[in-house]
Amino acid sequence: MSKNKTIKEAIKEARAVLKDISDIPQKEAIILLKYLLKVDESYLFLHENDEFKEYKKFKRLVERRAEDEPIEYITKKVSFYSREFFIDKGALIPRPETELLIDEVVKNAKEFQARQLSIAEIGTGSGIISIMLALLLPNAKITATDISKDALQIAKRNIKKYALKDRVKLYHASYLDGIEEEIDIIVSNPPYVANDFKIQKPLEYEPKEAIFGGDIGDEILFDIVDIAKEKSVLFLACEMGYDQRESISRYLKNRGFEDFYFYKDLAGLDRGFVAKH
Ligand SMILES: C[S@@+](CC[C@H](N)C(=O)[O-])C[C@H]1O[C@@H](n2cnc3c(N)ncnc32)[C@H](O)[C@@H]1O
Repeated sequence: MSKNKTIKEAIKEARAVLKDISDIPQKEAIILLKYLLKVDESYLFLHENDEFKEYKKFKRLVERRAEDEPIEYITKKVSFYSREFFIDKGALIPRPETELLIDEVVKNAKEFQARQLSIAEIGTGSGIISIMLALLLPNAKITATDISKDALQIAKRNIKKYALKDRVKLYHASYLDGIEEEIDIIVSNPPYVANDFKIQKPLEYEPKEAIFGGDIGDEILFDIVDIAKEKSVLFLACEMGYDQRESISRYLKNRGFEDFYFYKDLAGLDRGFVAKH
């Protein structure tokens, strides 16, 4: 890239740089520009022939993206369940399939609408699950834990954004260690990838403790099943790996859960389960 470009030229150049790592290079170039200049898309088109003074900064953002850094970490924004959340490197970028976990919890919680529900989320990350559940279930209060202080800072910012400080409480804890109150429902999207799994480049930007779940991958899920059993919850809902149905099914039966089902993601793969007491 050379100096003194117009906005239009800068977009064209960025598109050429990003086409190898993105299916939507033009769109990503525009997202990065909007973020840098803090303007909307119509501004960019009205000023497309203006000289672009922040070109060098833009070039740096495009280079970061070309190195496969997720665009959400660059712009510090992520869309989840049709809402916008703050995101940064300390927390996993929310995935669209996790919206299904929320739908499962809401569907099963409807049965208990008449009462106040106490929900615990293990491994809240950016806080998106707890926040969405608080928004969708007005009769629920949420206890959310994470072992990562960085993730909890991000969750805190999102809870503030949605004015939910009174209903979503954060704890720096492993699992539900030290949480004394009664819990009706446990929900979790825990790390469930095997430690030796070779992850692709964009995932390398995300926190390891948010991805890897043990030598096999399902160890944390098993621990959570044990906790749900011990706490006699109304139900437990978890996201899991597409190939973990058999081992989890076996573990749930082994722990005395008889009423459980698995749900699929939009690609038709097993993606999670709900186990009732
Ligand atoms: C897959 S991420 C999910 C983040 C967020 N809930 C979501 O769905 O986008 C898993 C989260 O669990 C946290 N975690 C890992 N082990 C944990 C443990 N033993 N207790 C509590 N949180 C844990 C990680 O730090 C990470 O934030």
